[in-house]
Amino acid sequence: MKTPTNFLQLLLLIMMTPSLVHGKSAVIKPVCEYRSNPIGIDIAKPRLSWQIISDADNVKQTAFEIKVANSSKDLTKKDQLRWSSGKVESDQSVNVSYEGAGLKSMERVYWQVRIWDNKNKVSEWSEPAYWEMGILEPQTWKASFIGLKPGAETAKSRPCQYFRKEFRLTKKVKSARLYITSLGLYQVFINGKKVSNDLFTPGWTSYNKRLQYQTYDVSAMISDKTTLGAILGDGWYRGSIGWGQNNYYGDQLALLLQLNIEYTDGTNELVTTDPGWKITTGPISSSEIYHGETYDARLEMPGWNMPGFDDSKWGNAVTINHSKDILISSASNAVKPIQEIVPVKFFKTPKGENVFDMGQNMVGWVRLKVKGSKGDQITLKFAEILDKEGNFYTENLRVARATDVYIVKGGEEEVFEPHFTFHGFRYVKIEGLPGVPDINQITGVVVHSEMEPTGTFNCSDSLINLLQHNIQWGQKGNFLDIPTDCPQRDERLGWTGDAEVFAPTAAFNFNVAAFYTKWMKDLAADQLPNGKVPHVIPDVLHGDGGSAAWADASVIIPWTVYLSYGDSGILRDQYASMKAWVEYMRGRAGDHYIWTKDFHFGDWLAYATNHSDYPGATTEKDLIATAYFYYSTSLLSKIAKILGNKPDEDTYATLADKIKSAFNNEFVTPNGRLVSHTQTAYVLALSFQMLPAELIPKAANYLADDVKKFGHLTTGFVGTPLLCKTLSDYGYSDLAYMLLMNKSYPSWLYPVTKGATTIWERWDGQKPDGTFQDVGMNSFNHYAYGAIGEWLYSYVAGITIDQNFPGYKHYFLSPHPGGSLRNANAKLLTMHGTIVSSWRW
Ligand code: BGC
Repeated sequence: MKTPTNFLQLLLLIMMTPSLVHGKSAVIKPVCEYRSNPIGIDIAKPRLSWQIISDADNVKQTAFEIKVANSSKDLTKKDQLRWSSGKVESDQSVNVSYEGAGLKSMERVYWQVRIWDNKNKVSEWSEPAYWEMGILEPQTWKASFIGLKPGAETAKSRPCQYFRKEFRLTKKVKSARLYITSLGLYQVFINGKKVSNDLFTPGWTSYNKRLQYQTYDVSAMISDKTTLGAILGDGWYRGSIGWGQNNYYGDQLALLLQLNIEYTDGTNELVTTDPGWKITTGPISSSEIYHGETYDARLEMPGWNMPGFDDSKWGNAVTINHSKDILISSASNAVKPIQEIVPVKFFKTPKGENVFDMGQNMVGWVRLKVKGSKGDQITLKFAEILDKEGNFYTENLRVARATDVYIVKGGEEEVFEPHFTFHGFRYVKIEGLPGVPDINQITGVVVHSEMEPTGTFNCSDSLINLLQHNIQWGQKGNFLDIPTDCPQRDERLGWTGDAEVFAPTAAFNFNVAAFYTKWMKDLAADQLPNGKVPHVIPDVLHGDGGSAAWADASVIIPWTVYLSYGDSGILRDQYASMKAWVEYMRGRAGDHYIWTKDFHFGDWLAYATNHSDYPGATTEKDLIATAYFYYSTSLLSKIAKILGNKPDEDTYATLADKIKSAFNNEFVTPNGRLVSHTQTAYVLALSFQMLPAELIPKAANYLADDVKKFGHLTTGFVGTPLLCKTLSDYGYSDLAYMLLMNKSYPSWLYPVTKGATTIWERWDGQKPDGTFQDVGMNSFNHYAYGAIGEWLYSYVAGITIDQNFPGYKHYFLSPHPGGSLRNANAKLLTMHGTIVSSWRW
């Protein structure tokens, strides 16, 4: 437990949102599976959460009552309720399962909740909320996957495909739902209008095992004459992915769509994809995630997605065989255009290139406005950084071409935005423009998964505030349906290690419960039968995996979601996967409980020098692997306990003890020195609590001495996230602050002083002399080192989870003022309400 530091004046504010009715608690923010009024739920017993507000102090829920009915009106009629929980004596307000009768495909139910508090007052019922079920059984899908006739495409040129279907309705529509997915990415239109601003649908999952569909309420969009239109692009499904691979999941794009219409007279009608649809190619000559999009506006087909369009020259779609048993409703946060930014300047580089500076390393694309002559070809290239001379620099993108090309049709001003690609960039080079580029010609469209922003942190040091800004932008740019390592080069994969180390910080900045829940399901889906966890999820590296600290994402991320949101459901759902991973490690370590075999990334990108007496802070991989084997095993035992699985709790506690004692025999001297005398080694042994009590102060001292000796951190991906926490936990917050406030390489603030607007992959991505690190691996938007964010929130500002009351049902406020900070403030929206911590000297 951390002790309060002595300081002149400590100001703590714990604030709950003000209440509405004096002296009475009220229930707000009713959500189902983390979403407000979701449609397309395919969970048999959806979970409901709410928050309580009050203007009185010390108010707690002591009981709740939930009621569910077929309509909001029926909620008021006792005999019409589908389910009533009755008064349940419980303080649970997060993820309470619906326990009523079975829910049917596509039905909508309404619900309300009220609570009793410890002052013996009952609240009003919450405002009625609803959830709507998706398609629960494969046979409810009446639509067929459709696409181009197999073999109709030439291998080299694979333009996006356009689908359309026109139909008439004779009756008045009461409501209409669109259920849709694709092999490849889709955009869907009704009568010329985009059905939603969701992007990169159906999202990225392990497609051949889990294919998400989306549900849209389109009641207001259809009319007596309706045209459905869709565009399909290669995306992750068959585009270039993971170093030069194509067609990882399949080589045929396909669309599956079902429109369920309910008329006011009570009858229903279905419109589905079938061979009656028309198909063609159009202006999007190619669209690839890594390489960008080429759009030839001369090939536009005005009105193609509107009624009355002449599609006689289009081909007929054919049925594509594909399983519908793997369809699941999308339950995570959709990717959306979240914000727009305008360039801060336009300039010419020394080489004479025309470049816009967006002022922020961002992820998405630019919207281009252009007026030109037919056939003018405008090329947009994207870069994160300028080289030392100030020229446009793209070598670190490796083979990703990251280029959008727009071919002008001529006439009035034209507007272009790509459909199925994204770029990671701050600088945009424009070529082929008629006339002089104008700063108003482009707008940056920032896209990412739409997660609720939950955390803010700021303090008296402007560089640390920029660091926090960079951490949050690193998260935005790399939370694009899956957690990626980077958003710009020919990679952009769901690297497990990066996600694992960043997860606690991510859960401060945004609500990531649904986001990780989905990704964890893909992890389980792609886990090998022997329990090995692939390096990247979804796996596009053919099962390569099993590295310590990377594969442990299988245990640590569900645990983080549990702690941050009080969600034990994810522990239950992922339990088999976690256990399989721990059993895999047990098998590899064998009877000695020391994991010496196999490939591991180790303390990836740790500090290295070319001094002959100190080549680098290399932490032995066996030590790292065994420490993580211990940590995941001990977490598994805790998790088994939470799930009420006593035999497993005991089994894994015993296994953890054995690993711990083997670790001490193998890697620790009787005097508390570790065989790898590195910051990372000490940090692991101390923070995973692997050392006997008498050696803890000695090991902590060795750690502190090492930090003092270097005067900087020496850690890589594995040690960095835990370094400041461990120093603070063992009484060395002064050193943690020294590391935080350090402005020279290697440190968190060094990139900030070099003008970074996101977190860099390497401590010295750009060196003090302006030259770059190895182009083979030098991303300027890699969130892993942003894991320091957790320490800012939970140590500097002091908002700390109480593991016995996850989801901040109870929490600690234990700020650690220090360094030259004069004040710090953090705010966190939790599932139980808002926490504010603020201090100043
Ligand atoms: C990625 C990482 C990842 C690593 C594995 C890199 O190519 O960008 O962030 O964790 O490989 O060591």
